[in-house]
Formats: sequence, C-alpha cells, structure tokens
Amino acid sequence: MSKYKKEKRAQFSSKFGVIAAAAGSAVGLGNIWKFPYITGKFGGAAFLLVYICFIAIIGVSIMLSEFIIGRRSKKNAYGAYKKLAPKTKWKYVGLLGIIAAILIMAFYVVVAGWTIEYVVAAIGNKFANQTPEQLNAMYADFVDAPFRPLLYQLIFMIITAGVIIAGVKNGIERGSKFMMPLLLVIILILDIRAITLPGAAAGLEFLFKPDFSKLSSDAILSALGHAFFSLSIGTGTLTTYGSYINKKNNLVRTTVDVTIADTVVAILAGVAILPAVFSFGINPSEGPGLVFVTLPNIFLQIKGGYIFSVLFFVLLALAALTSAISILEVIVAYFSEELKMKRKAATIWSSVIILLAGTICSLSMGPYDSLTIGGLNLFDATDWLSTNILLPIGGMFMSLFVGWKLGKDEVMDELAQGSHIKMCFVKIFIFITKFIAPLAILAVFLHGLGII
Ligand code: PHE
Repeated sequence: MSKYKKEKRAQFSSKFGVIAAAAGSAVGLGNIWKFPYITGKFGGAAFLLVYICFIAIIGVSIMLSEFIIGRRSKKNAYGAYKKLAPKTKWKYVGLLGIIAAILIMAFYVVVAGWTIEYVVAAIGNKFANQTPEQLNAMYADFVDAPFRPLLYQLIFMIITAGVIIAGVKNGIERGSKFMMPLLLVIILILDIRAITLPGAAAGLEFLFKPDFSKLSSDAILSALGHAFFSLSIGTGTLTTYGSYINKKNNLVRTTVDVTIADTVVAILAGVAILPAVFSFGINPSEGPGLVFVTLPNIFLQIKGGYIFSVLFFVLLALAALTSAISILEVIVAYFSEELKMKRKAATIWSSVIILLAGTICSLSMGPYDSLTIGGLNLFDATDWLSTNILLPIGGMFMSLFVGWKLGKDEVMDELAQGSHIKMCFVKIFIFITKFIAPLAILAVFLHGLGII
C-alpha cells in the first residue's frame, strides 16, 4: 500500500485512452517536422543510430520514471516532488520542467502555425504546377512575412487553450483516438511514393548507411536532446499525464508501446522525406523548412495528391495539437494547483506568456533573423536551450529521483499495480535510473559542451 494520502483526481477513462493520450503527446512535430530535418543536418544514418540507442537506454527508463512519479503522487509536475519528497529541493526539478515546457511551447506554436498555413495552401491547391524552387520560395516568403505566421500561431494557441479548458477527458482523449492511425496510413503512402522516386536510393543510403566520421559532438548532444523531445520526457508532461492514469494501468506496457509508436513514426517520416530530398535536389541540411519544402513536391508526384496534401497537413496540425495540449497541460496543472488559479485563468495566462515568447521566435525566423545568440537565431536558440539542455538535465534528475529517493520498494509497489512485475526487472530498472541513465546524460553533456 502507498504511504501517501489518497487523492481524488481526474482520470483517463480507459487503457486505450491512456495510450492514445501519451502517444498523442509523443507523436507530433518532433517526429514529422524535426526528426527529418535534424537527421538531414547531422548527416543521416549515424545520427539515427545514436538517437535510437539513446531512446532505448535512457528514454524508456525516464519515461517510466515520469509515469511512476506522476501516478504515485497524483500531482502536477512540481507538486509531485513536494508530495513524494516533502521539504527537499527536489521540487526544483519540477520547476525546471515547467520552464522547459514554456520555452518548448514558444517555438512549437510557431511551427504548428505553419502547419495551418499549409492546410490552407493545400486546400487552395497552391502547390499545383510549382517547381521545387518555387515551393522553396513559397516557404521562405511565408516565414518572412511577419503577419501571417503570427496570425496562425494565435489561431493554433486559441484552439489548444480551448481543448485544455474543456478538461482532461473530454479534450485530450477523444481527439487522439482516431487521428494517429490515420496519419500513419498517409505517411505510409508517402513512403511508398518517396522510395520509388528517381534517385531515391541515395536518400535511403543517407538514412540507413552510417558514416560515423560525420558524427560531431554537437550531433550526439542533439540526438540526446531529440530523444527527450520526441518522447515528451524531461518537462514533466508524462508526470502530469501519469497523475491522471489509474492504478489498473500497466505502466511498463504503456511506456514500451508509446516508445515504439513514436520511434516508428519518426523513421517512417524520415523514409518519406529524405529520399525525396535527394530526388528533388533539395539540400538535406536545409533546416526547419525541410519538410514544408519537400512534401509538397511529393504530393505533386502522387495521383490524388491534392486530397493527400490536404489530409496530411490537417493531420499534421492535429498531431501538433495533441502534443501542444500535453505541454500546455503541464503549465496549467502547475498554475492551477500550486498557484491556486482557476483552470480557465491558468490556461489563459499560460497562453499569453507562450504567445509573447512565440512571437519573438516567429519574428526571428523572418524580419529579425539577424538577431542571434551564439550564431543561432532566437527560434533556434530557444529550441537548442530547451531541447538539448533543459530536457536532459530535467530527465537526469528525474532518473536520480526515482533511483535514489523513491527507491526499489516504492517503485516495486507502484509498478505492481496493474501488472505482474518481477523483482529482478525492478532491480535492473533501478540500476539504470541510479547509474546508467544519469551518467550517460552527463557524459554526452560534457562531450557536447566540449568539456571532455
Ligand atoms: N513529443 C512532442 C513531439 O514530438 C513534443 C513534446 C516535447 C511534447 C516535450 C511534450 C513535451 O512533437
């Protein structure tokens, strides 16, 4: 039995709802927009391999750690530590996650806004008869024009906030259930077309034939950061979702399912995009615009491309939405439970903060791109700081918390609810959380920052 006070709390209504919501959080722009372009930037297969290793060694155990912290405490990402480790400094781990969540949202809403622009463009059949150069110019003109990206960002934020105000079950669960499978089907169709394009083989080789000489320390750090970003770990997102999961759920199962789904979608997105990049003569290290420039080219090569383009961008926007909801929920749960705000007020205030930061990020892709920190514009700098630094640090402390503070018996007790768990499994898991994951993160970190 848990030694903590029982709390009544909103809950996901079914096992499938849990998977759908957690996978909905994990699968998003990270898989379809970000994974292909950073894989392109960091040289392909070797990067992919390192990324997969980080997911398997570090990602899985930290995701499970977050679920454990969340379900055991039934609190928000900050309150969880106050409850499980009262009067200690552990609560700052939660705070760090909330700051990371705000920063991530700041650039996430920008790209999510772009997806709406592309929905509109797809509906208006704007890709028709365009050359790859023209499609490139179309993207560049759009992000450069200050007004439209800001408008779409605002629209996206309002929709996300609306879903959050509608509440946990109604909002989050209902949407995730059918959209993700449909998105997967469309990506598979794109895959088939992409790998049969002339010159696609070079793209597949790029993605699957590792050349380790291309692997910089920056690439390794980015692979680590992206493993966190893509799995939605390190911010307290899955801690917060964990707090809505009931005791009948098998946390280990959920973790494995979500991790596999997330990784498969990323690789399939890579298979759709990188071969096409090579086939159309686009530069693989083009950056954040890569997907938006490449995909319309593929749609033009498919029978019924119009329908597919509309469907794809709608689903991409929805995938972004289910992820954005999960990030916003971290902030809102914190504001409402710790700062005692009404849920609606908490949502509005967090949205305002995000929009302000998001506006800066958006403008830094266009009119203010000369404003840089360490050679990065403010959009890329926000992404770099939150993804490559804050998420791994947050994750490292979460792991240490589960390994050293909660410990074997509490973890065993929590995992035994909803599944038949063996002690030897718990022992291995604790060993990873105590030593392997934190040390691996530390090593990548020091290496990435040039210290070792
Ligand atoms: N995992 C999400 C995606 O891939 C983004 C995300 C990051 C969500 C961090 C929650 C927390 O798009």
